[in-house]
Amino acid sequence: MTIESVKPETPPAVELREPPRAGGGVPVLGHGWKLARDPLAFMSRLRDHGDVVRLKLGPKTVYAVTAPALTGALALSNDFIIAGPLWESLEGLLGKEGVATANGPRHRRQRRTIQPAFRLDAIPAYGPIMEEEAHALTERWKPGETIDCTSESFRVAVRIAARCLLRGDYMDERAERLCVALATVFRGMYRRMVVPLGPLYNLPLPANREFNRALADLHLLVDEIVAERRASGQKPDDLLTALLEATDENGDPIGEQEIHDQVVAILTPGSETIASTIMWLLHMLAEHPEHADRVRDEVLAVTGGRPVAFADVRGLRHTNNVVVESMRLSPAVWILTRRAVRDTELGGYRIPSGADIIYSPYAIQRDPKSYRRNLDFDPDRWLPDRVKDIPKHAMSPFSVGNRKCPSDHFSMAQLTLVTAALATRYRFEQVPGSKDATRVGITLRPHDLRVRAVRR
Ligand code: HEM
Repeated sequence: MTIESVKPETPPAVELREPPRAGGGVPVLGHGWKLARDPLAFMSRLRDHGDVVRLKLGPKTVYAVTAPALTGALALSNDFIIAGPLWESLEGLLGKEGVATANGPRHRRQRRTIQPAFRLDAIPAYGPIMEEEAHALTERWKPGETIDCTSESFRVAVRIAARCLLRGDYMDERAERLCVALATVFRGMYRRMVVPLGPLYNLPLPANREFNRALADLHLLVDEIVAERRASGQKPDDLLTALLEATDENGDPIGEQEIHDQVVAILTPGSETIASTIMWLLHMLAEHPEHADRVRDEVLAVTGGRPVAFADVRGLRHTNNVVVESMRLSPAVWILTRRAVRDTELGGYRIPSGADIIYSPYAIQRDPKSYRRNLDFDPDRWLPDRVKDIPKHAMSPFSVGNRKCPSDHFSMAQLTLVTAALATRYRFEQVPGSKDATRVGITLRPHDLRVRAVRR
């Protein structure tokens, strides 16, 4: 045997390809006008051009990933970090030191701090609050009453997040203020991102004043919550205590700004996403009465007629599938971004260092290449014998990898419980004047959904 014969062969150099350019760009604006005019349709058509495609947004080249497997590869690779215009504008408004925008060692440390509050075995402790809030939501309504789904969904989402993760009775009044502040802040933030008019947002116009007031109140509320917990001297086993006791890489207590930004970074995604999802669930219950009835029947079979409880959630298979299917067709998080930190590749396509990459869970989850009868609302596609036909990463509403949403179990438990409570007590029907068209913002939700609650 010669030395040559055992020498490992150099793998043939893989020729990286330039991603194809998406069609339909126009001079100067590139694809920006299409993305601004109808982002969901635009993102949904991109796969026709390739698995990775180049877009021109003004002078800038942005890469869009359209194939499920490559979105997984992107989310799991260390070659990409959280950065880009979306995150920069979020940081400017919500704070620079929170987990959602951090990278590297700080991000890893922050995840270690918050993770225990979201672990599967931590969720049952939140059960009584989730139950109370789910039933309080339906008990607030009078049969026949028209429900403003936007404010009601925000209310229950903020109350569950605030009461479970930050604890304390004082949360009840604060949760109401948080609702108002967060709803206004999210509305204004999206406007500032898609129409970046810079100094014009400083003009003393009513909309700017309202936005600034809400943003200031959000930060003030968080300061109050932190100060009050400290003054109480109590250390319940919750996320806030974990944040107050967290230490940095050197073992020193983390700074006040980081504590503040962390609370904001958890409350803000936590309420907007859940609220939007509940709005879509109410829409689904109104538009698919046959599925609403199946949910009710399942709940009754499990509970025997008593009020549904947190402990029942595990037995509510169909209700869970209804929630997943609703999230597939109407995902709260519809666009995600990353930035390449080195020259790299995705699916054999060259991605240069510094490139911004986008992908759309909305487009991925509605793709006819991944789903038969892709636009049908069909919760049974999540039954064990059918789910295996769905390609990997074609349904990752909480993402994967090191940025995966910490709250997947927490979210699914409360969404299933709320859906069960809604469907057992009422039938819903949209009322004249309800606007259920999709409103594209930081999340996707119906424009102004209004339903009548009819007692079962
Ligand atoms: C991150 C989805 C609820 C807290 C994420 C990400 C997704 C997501 C897709 C990853 C973003 C990325 O890859 O760039 C959702 C959905 C929810 C939900 C669909 C509900 C329907 C919540 C709740 C909380 C929360 C209830 C907290 C109470 C966070 C945080 C991050 C995050 C802190 C940042 C994690 C990190 O960067 O390490 N979420 N989320 N989310 N989510 Fe959620």
